[in-house]
Amino acid sequence: MKVYKTADYAAMSKKAANIICSLVVLKPDCVLGLATGSSPVGTYKQLIEWNKEGYLSFSKVKTVNLDEYRNLPVTHDQSYRYFMNDNLFDHVDIDKSVTNVPDGMAADIEAECKRYDELVASLGGADLQLLGMGHDGHIGFNEPCDEFPKGTHLVDLDPMTLEANARFFDNDPKKVPNQAVTMGIGTIMSAKKILVVVSGADKAGIVAKALLGPVTPQVPASILQFHPDVTIVADEAALAEYIKEGGKVCD
Ligand code: F6R
Repeated sequence: MKVYKTADYAAMSKKAANIICSLVVLKPDCVLGLATGSSPVGTYKQLIEWNKEGYLSFSKVKTVNLDEYRNLPVTHDQSYRYFMNDNLFDHVDIDKSVTNVPDGMAADIEAECKRYDELVASLGGADLQLLGMGHDGHIGFNEPCDEFPKGTHLVDLDPMTLEANARFFDNDPKKVPNQAVTMGIGTIMSAKKILVVVSGADKAGIVAKALLGPVTPQVPASILQFHPDVTIVADEAALAEYIKEGGKVCD
């Protein structure tokens, strides 16, 4: 696992965008696994800028997103499909028909989970999976639980996650959909490379726990310790505890 420390969110975003950019340049038809939330927004902004300047093209790239709220229409500005269009896809030269987000509106959610796993497998898995990290250590919406879930599944969101995401729903945790469809840990771990972006002092405790603590489904991100190619790009504030506890960072 490589851990890179940056001064702040802006520097974190630029470094993460550089890593994604290098992959797209080397493999123009790559499969990118993408995330939503606040952490990757700056990364997407930088990629949009470089795309507009002609440094990289998404014309052959395919994407698979991690997750989607249950029963939030794609026209809702907090749905993850809306987020991806608004924060990336609508601003770059990507073929939107090959961008994939689980269908949180599907009547038969089990069939949808199966379809999504088959789709990811048919693409050969993600060449790079971008992740943020929740305050409870979730990745995708794999919340702390007793076993690492393998495939795409429906999940009940933790009160901590509803609280954290209330900022997008009039600051009212009751307005946050309480379920989501998420890729499983098995699917995430099958990505060839994993890139995690984390920022802010509020994440310092969970970052240290996930990277240095025991590997346990109670801290879902801790599974990343077992992946052969993980890069963490985090700002100083998010790495404070990790460094205090003796965690190593790359130069
Ligand atoms: C988003 C996702 C989540 C977020 C996590 C952190 O697709 O799967 O795991 O990455 O909740 O969210 P932010 O970046 O908003 O702190």
